[in-house]
Amino acid sequence: MTEPFTAIAALPDHVGQRVTLKGWLYNKRGSKSLYFLVLRDGTGLVQCVVNEDKVDAASFETASESTQESALEVIGTVHADERQVGGVEVQVESVSLIAQAEPYPITPKEHGVEFLMDRRHLWLRSRRQWAIMRVRNRIIMSMHGYFQENGFIQMDAPILTGNAVEGTSTLFELDYFDEPAYLTQSGQLHGEAMAMAHGKIYTFGPTFRAEKSKTRRHLTEFWMIEPEMAFYDLDMDMEVAEELIVRIVSDVLRDCRDELAVLERDLTPLEAVQGPFPRVSYDDAVALLRSDKTKQLLDEERRGLEQEQAALDTERADNRARYGQAKKGEKRRIDTREIEINQRLDAIEEALRNIPQWAASAANFEWGSDFGGSDETVLTKHFDRPIIVHRFPAVIKAFYMKRDPEDDRLALGMDVLAPEGYGEVVGGGERATDLAFLQRQVEAHGLPEEVFDWYFDLRRFGSVPHSGFGIGLERTVAWVCGLHHLREAIPFPRLIGRLHP
Ligand code: 4AD
Ligand code: MG
Repeated sequence: MTEPFTAIAALPDHVGQRVTLKGWLYNKRGSKSLYFLVLRDGTGLVQCVVNEDKVDAASFETASESTQESALEVIGTVHADERQVGGVEVQVESVSLIAQAEPYPITPKEHGVEFLMDRRHLWLRSRRQWAIMRVRNRIIMSMHGYFQENGFIQMDAPILTGNAVEGTSTLFELDYFDEPAYLTQSGQLHGEAMAMAHGKIYTFGPTFRAEKSKTRRHLTEFWMIEPEMAFYDLDMDMEVAEELIVRIVSDVLRDCRDELAVLERDLTPLEAVQGPFPRVSYDDAVALLRSDKTKQLLDEERRGLEQEQAALDTERADNRARYGQAKKGEKRRIDTREIEINQRLDAIEEALRNIPQWAASAANFEWGSDFGGSDETVLTKHFDRPIIVHRFPAVIKAFYMKRDPEDDRLALGMDVLAPEGYGEVVGGGERATDLAFLQRQVEAHGLPEEVFDWYFDLRRFGSVPHSGFGIGLERTVAWVCGLHHLREAIPFPRLIGRLHP
């Protein structure tokens, strides 16, 4: 459809033309006879110049009185201006008010995370959050693109289910007309049934885990994409995961330059995301964790951080010493830099506190345990791109995993670990095909056999080798955007202690 107004993102195609814009006042500068209104409409930002001589009195009054986040309609002419965001500026002819905003709680000054999280419904309008959601959208499209172009059928698994998939400790239980039910932890089991009907399928839906601890890598509600492929073994499974991730990162690098710039994302580690990803067996990963190489790597990192810390301390002291004599503009620069330095110093301090713990955890890692977040961080530091760890001890993995025919202690599972401390983004593997084995596993995991009977049918009627995995959308978004915490990777995060807004 054609809209009776122009999107800000489309303005470069309208240079020299008269346009109508509709949006919200993001920012305003100016005085007596001249105002610069920065308007945002969801597609972008544009500076609108309101000159008292060139607009009617009512328009000028609206410009002078409109508050942050007031909704406005602006009519004006588009001018090319390389110095402005988007390379254009609008010379205003008239401004009219759609709705005046009350004093807006989120201002350019710094706010605490809880303050912002309580106002997530408004925080989403901020530039950084806007950029993250655009990248999230791009990633979703990449995932669909990859699967659709490679012969997969998208199918939906139920959200209300009668059985656990990933253990019983993180189930959200509810009463389903007097029968216990759960919010699904994963669409996998139903995905397996659908793969037996269609060959290659993927599900894309919300999944739930009653995670009782607060970490920056766990949400209680998150979105997971789960491909499932008949006649695929573990190696083929790893290949699909690798191709998908390479595709996602290259699409974002190509199409989200502006968003990544807003996020100040370092592009170098993303540009290194090329196949093949190293395949590292669990055994080798354990040996690497315990090795001198790990010790040296962490020592080097500690020394580098200490040097950076000293340099930043000196810079901050110099800036403070200069401050008294500095001119206004210089003072502003020093203030901005002070905030940056303090943030970086906090991050360095945290890392310096962590490194000895990481080193201890790595050095004392015992075969048979699961990797903690720090172990994953340390492991990936040895590589410049994501790695795929495979063949884990069966005891730490789910009941449905196939055993390694070469070593019965191992399960044919695989995890993709992202670099830069992001850790596991993908978990999956080859599924057990033998009915009796699965029945024993369900029992051994203390799961009720009756509710898995439908699942056992998949092994009764034409059981075939098959594999799949789940990729966490928010983990992927957080990594690609370089976010500290998963809470910024989803519009309305659900965490323990966070149900509103
Ligand atoms: O490793 P997980 O638990 O694997 C499964 O659920 C399998 N049934 C998937 C399959 O084979 N079809 O979870 C898969 C991925 C993780 O690698 C992670 O990216 C994400 O889901 N994930 C979470 N993301 C956010 N918050 C949580 N609490 C998450 N738990 C898992
Ligand atoms: Mg996992």
